[in-house]
Amino acid sequence: MALRQILTIGDETLYKKCRKVELFDTRLHTLLDDMKETMYAAAGVGLAAIQIGILKRVVTIDTGEGLLELVNPEIIETRGSEEAAEGCLSVPGKQGNVVRPTYVKVRAQDRNGEFYEVDGEGLLARAFCHEIEHLDGHLYIEKATDIVDRNFEDEE
Ligand code: NI
Repeated sequence: MALRQILTIGDETLYKKCRKVELFDTRLHTLLDDMKETMYAAAGVGLAAIQIGILKRVVTIDTGEGLLELVNPEIIETRGSEEAAEGCLSVPGKQGNVVRPTYVKVRAQDRNGEFYEVDGEGLLARAFCHEIEHLDGHLYIEKATDIVDRNFEDEE
């Protein structure tokens, strides 16, 4: 495994659209392993491959309930709405308030290409939305209000 450099706001790569993963091979497994290591080293709760310059629809998330590896993730159900503070490893030192669903269900593939569904509330629901938006070249600050210098530890 290897630590990868996290791109930050202003890098044009972050605004591109990511391609669907077709090959579930050792390159994908290495990417997922590196993303996990990079995410934990940066104390983030989520990371999208685009944030390390790889334009593939791959996400890792760990909100404290264990590691999730999401390949080609899609949101298939949402409920509710709540506003809370959010940050991003690609927007260092900042946080802003974003309205997200309180409940989100996602369909994704694992590292071997098997489809599965996973759902979550609160921070996990927020992380699903935040990371999947990265895959289409969007940053949370496009929809955030009250962007300020950060004072909390969770970053996505
Ligand atoms: Ni982010």
